[in-house]
Amino acid sequence: MEEKRARKRLVLVPVPAQGHISPMMQLAKTLHLKGFSITVAQTKFNYFNPPDDSTDFQFVTIPESLPESEFKNLGPIRFLHKLNKECQVSFKDCLSRLLMIQQSHEIACVIYDEFMYFAEAAAKEFNLPNVIFSTTSATAFACRSEFEKLYAENALVPFNEPREEQNELVPEFHPLRYKDFPVSRWASLEGIMEIYRNTVDKRTASSVIINTTSCLENSSLLWLQQRLEIPVYHVGPLHMVASAPTSLLKENKSCIEWLNKRSQNSVIFVSLGSLALMEINEVMETASGLGSSNQHFLWVIRPGSIRGSEWIESLPEEFSQMVSDRGYIVKWAPQKEVLAHPAVGGFWSHCGWNSTLESIGEGVPMICKPFSGDQKVNARYLDCVWKIGVQVEGDLDRGAVERAVKRLMVGEEGENMRKRAVSLKEKLKASVRSGGSSHNSLEEFVNFFKTVKQ
Ligand code: UDX
Repeated sequence: MEEKRARKRLVLVPVPAQGHISPMMQLAKTLHLKGFSITVAQTKFNYFNPPDDSTDFQFVTIPESLPESEFKNLGPIRFLHKLNKECQVSFKDCLSRLLMIQQSHEIACVIYDEFMYFAEAAAKEFNLPNVIFSTTSATAFACRSEFEKLYAENALVPFNEPREEQNELVPEFHPLRYKDFPVSRWASLEGIMEIYRNTVDKRTASSVIINTTSCLENSSLLWLQQRLEIPVYHVGPLHMVASAPTSLLKENKSCIEWLNKRSQNSVIFVSLGSLALMEINEVMETASGLGSSNQHFLWVIRPGSIRGSEWIESLPEEFSQMVSDRGYIVKWAPQKEVLAHPAVGGFWSHCGWNSTLESIGEGVPMICKPFSGDQKVNARYLDCVWKIGVQVEGDLDRGAVERAVKRLMVGEEGENMRKRAVSLKEKLKASVRSGGSSHNSLEEFVNFFKTVKQ
């Protein structure tokens, strides 16, 4: 009979938002396959139902009293401040209960999303090793660190002023300009800085795991390794290592049937992630530009994602005329399946890090229209470093939309981007295969925790 060895337990703490839950659950699945027991500690806010294939996982709740409306009222940055304050004590209680009931499953470590930094204090109190998990890119992490340093030195150009200096390149961060730094339109600079100070502070963390790969971000990974002076493991793209379906919204699969009727590379997929909001006039300009581009398009419009409108019912009448000919609209799509569909030839995206990795992972070039935070960093890299994206800057108008779609979907320039995207896709696949850089980095992380004595 096979010897039953006690598995070490990892306690994972995700941010309760789709773009963070998905990579954390992919990490959970990956580490479970490597022989760890998994506990996921989630907040009541945006509680997600455990996926069917995670029956082996333990799910516990970190009690907090933040109603849904708080997120809308405060916006993501101030909400994160409040969440960190609210969870500080309740997570300690939660961890202490877990430690009391642990039998053969000794807790080896707490792995927390970089934005759930309250978890570090609890881990420290119980002498548990803790690890930071970054669900954004290594470059965005490095930018936050540098940005925080410049802010502390009073060396930043004020961000709410459209000054010429914003277009200058940041030394050591070529090709990023000051205006590409991950600030957010959702909060004051001081509010953002407080979050960044906390996220870039490694405190007692023994290492950092990043959902990236060296073939995309080698120099940023080296920079971080030097600045942080603790091991930085690059284990991504995790969606190519383990699938973990954790959609908070119901996927409308009818779009796959619609795609089945389209020819190869003829459709542009438009999706702006789980948080971005558009103004009504931006939606109308986008609809008009997409309509006059003469391409088919599949457009995800999330309920509540248009300011002042529940969904599309209250948009001006011309909207349906603009989209009826060549467009198909859904509230939420099976995005990874859509990107893998042969009919999809381009992705109009807000450039969230998951969407970026998922698109490159399928060899689909992108139109980049970032909204906030790390998305601007990703957009600049897609355009200027990996050269598989067309960045749309400035106000959204129908002409700019039409031109960008045509650049990507018609002609030689788009074709060359598609070829580069397919070649990058092969590199990503190689990095997660046995012997690849992400695969090796994951093995190093796993071996460290399997052998360490507490
Ligand atoms: C947020 C931030 O905005 C992003 O910049 C950061 O990198 C992660 O956290 P979000 O805006 O939701 O995430 O974007 P993204 O990172 O792209 O994640 C969205 C996820 O939702 C992706 O995994 C995508 O596949 C999924 N999705 C989106 C769907 O499954 N269906 C959809 O219709 C749209």
